[in-house]
Amino acid sequence: MPVLEQITQANVLAYKTTRLWALQDSPRSFGSTYARESQFSDADWVQRTANLNTERSVGYLAVDSGSYCGIAGAFLDQHDPRRAEMVSMWVAPTARRTGVGGILINAIRSWSKMRGVHTLQLMVTSENHSAIQFYERNGFSMTGHTEPYPNDPALFEYEMAQRLFA
Ligand SMILES: CC(C)(COP(=O)(O)OP(=O)(O)OC[C@H]1O[C@@H](n2cnc3c(N)ncnc32)[C@H](O)[C@@H]1OP(=O)(O)O)[C@@H](O)C(=O)NCCC(=O)NCCS
Repeated sequence: MPVLEQITQANVLAYKTTRLWALQDSPRSFGSTYARESQFSDADWVQRTANLNTERSVGYLAVDSGSYCGIAGAFLDQHDPRRAEMVSMWVAPTARRTGVGGILINAIRSWSKMRGVHTLQLMVTSENHSAIQFYERNGFSMTGHTEPYPNDPALFEYEMAQRLFA
């Protein structure tokens, strides 16, 4: 049964390893790239960890039998703290379709509700049909807003969102 660890300085190395694994495994799922983040110094990872562990941000790692197998984070919107953006969602290939992604979403949802967030949103690449189905299954729907995908001009990103309070 996977459990979640909040990303803190205590597991910064696991965060770095899991994030770089995600970028290598799913290069067209994220705005950033392995080429970019593999150049980060240890000090950069410490800073990124600090950025994910504030009153306005959170990150989680999923771990199963001692092996890290998932990651997700969220930030409150800079201009409207009643909105939060979920980022970096990834589950290791061998752990997929076992509910790890759902556990990560539930944790982000709980964190968001604790902060009074009414809308949880995310961006997903237009070709990422499996993630779109995953998000729909977890209560998100398309808002109609799209943005260019920075790593491939042939793709774009859909915004998806869900309301947390009626
Ligand atoms: C998208 C992702 C995070 C889903 O994680 P997961 O742990 O496999 O998801 P869950 O096991 O919680 O799946 C819950 C439900 O979502 C849907 N779902 C998940 N993966 C799916 C897939 N590949 N195809 C269709 N539906 C899928 C299903 O309804 C599933 O329920 P079921 O297994 O009973 O049919 C994972 O596939 C992943 O890491 N993909 C690569 C990275 C990525 O695309 N991240 C998203 C960036 S925006």
